[in-house]
Amino acid sequence: MSNILCIGAGYVGGPTMAVISKHCPQHEVRLVDINAERIAAWKSDQLPIYEPGLKEVVEIARGRNLFFYTAEHIAELINWADIIFVSVNTPTKTFGMGAGRAADLQFWEKTARQILEHANGPKIIIEKSTLPVRTAEAMSNILNTNAKGVNFDVLSNPEFLAEGSAIKDLENPDRVLIGGHNTESGQRAVQTIVDLYANWVPRERIITTNLWSSELSKLVANAFLAQRISSINAISALCEKTEADVEEVAYAIGTDTRIGPHFLRASVGFGGSCFRKDILNLVYISEQQGLPEVAAYWEQVLKMNEYQEARFVANMVHAMFNSLSGKRIALFGAAFKANTSDTRESPALAVCRELLEERADIALCDPHALENARQDLGGLADQVAFIQDPYQAADGAHAIAVLTEWTHFTELDYQRIYDSMAHPAFIFDGRNILDHQALFEIGFNVYPIGKAPMQHFNHNDQGAGVLPK
Ligand code: NAD
Ligand code: UGA
Repeated sequence: MSNILCIGAGYVGGPTMAVISKHCPQHEVRLVDINAERIAAWKSDQLPIYEPGLKEVVEIARGRNLFFYTAEHIAELINWADIIFVSVNTPTKTFGMGAGRAADLQFWEKTARQILEHANGPKIIIEKSTLPVRTAEAMSNILNTNAKGVNFDVLSNPEFLAEGSAIKDLENPDRVLIGGHNTESGQRAVQTIVDLYANWVPRERIITTNLWSSELSKLVANAFLAQRISSINAISALCEKTEADVEEVAYAIGTDTRIGPHFLRASVGFGGSCFRKDILNLVYISEQQGLPEVAAYWEQVLKMNEYQEARFVANMVHAMFNSLSGKRIALFGAAFKANTSDTRESPALAVCRELLEERADIALCDPHALENARQDLGGLADQVAFIQDPYQAADGAHAIAVLTEWTHFTELDYQRIYDSMAHPAFIFDGRNILDHQALFEIGFNVYPIGKAPMQHFNHNDQGAGVLPK
């Protein structure tokens, strides 16, 4: 039996430890977090994050071999543990050297120092957070400068789960990646963690590498995923100019097995807490290593994402006669993707902010993310109506913008919605999830992404779907 501690009970730490404890009843798993409210929520029926299937997994293990603690217990927990996962947040640095690009490692370094202070015996320390390549070197340096003679093996085991499908991804991962030092002790530690995952993950899907490959692979995986979205979004702009249909293009190219069909859904842009920060981090590391061309290449993925969001809003303004001032607009979706309550870096909130600049009246509608949206919007929140019911949000609106791909939005009675709106009524489908032909037939003017707009009137200039010059 091992004593497993996870420091950081957030979107990654919570679900990951829940799945480990479910499949490994022989081990005891404890989570600790400085956020006492979060810990209280993990212990309650109202878990701190919305994630399909999470509650069921937590209920299997909680109280059996899964336990939650607040930070005042950190010393005894560190001392108790044989294996410590560090899953604290690693946001983009907002101050000093590397501000706006480099990863802010203050939370991570603090945990390393706490481990050093409280550990009285050997431990395996696992980087679960996404970290810059070679962070483990710094972690080893901090940990192994101890006068206690305690040995720490530092491993990298980055997490690849996506929010909204976290439990599915953890139960049945494409791969688990474990990086360790090529020393006897390092390889013994790697084997311990391989054995842990082998309780439910087929051995051939557990990849072991050197530490630096593991750390770097995590950043590169996110960069490649985001790059595919930016690539198809760039093509969506071209489709709107040429009457090509981005979904047809995505399907046509995605059937080539070398390209593959996934992550080719054109959208208003990608969001989430990680793509942007991890690419910024990759850009920063490349610059630091004297590779400006590499940095510029990856930075373009982010620039394209910003362009796509701005283009979406510009299309709205243009289609709606160049003025949104005082017009009610219902935003369908606040979460950065479907099946999560997370609004971090959500394109929906970026669009919301820009529409507020245009002095539109915003009704923001989402089945699970309104509370997080309110917090993320900060001082702007009192200019927004937060309405869970889409019918009520659209009542009297001039336009609807679909910003999150919740299935819920595809199942609404759009005739009823149209009848309650101001006319002409507009729908901007930033996720291409609605039946555009049916909406057009109801009477809507419809603006998908990467497809010709469907309008009941002729614009007297270049037509909607095209950026104003
Ligand atoms: P999060 O903010 O949801 O959770 C991190 C938690 O760590 C917070 O609850 C915070 O209070 C806690 N914390 C910070 N310092 C602490 C300390 N000293 N002691 C105890 N608790 C502490 O972040 P997250 O989304 O879970 O991401 C964690 C890491 O995992 C990041 O590096 C992220 O890049 C990476 N990651 C995230 C996802 C995702 O889908 N969110 C997926 C893969 C990897
Ligand atoms: C992403 C990765 O998919 C995970 O493997 C990784 O572990 C995680 O980041 C992380 O490191 O945090 P996540 O951000 O949770 O997961 O969600 P994704 O499914 O990747 O979606 C990210 C964004 O891209 C969302 O806004 C989504 O709507 C958008 N997206 C995705 C598109 O616009 N088009 C697509 O085809 C796919």
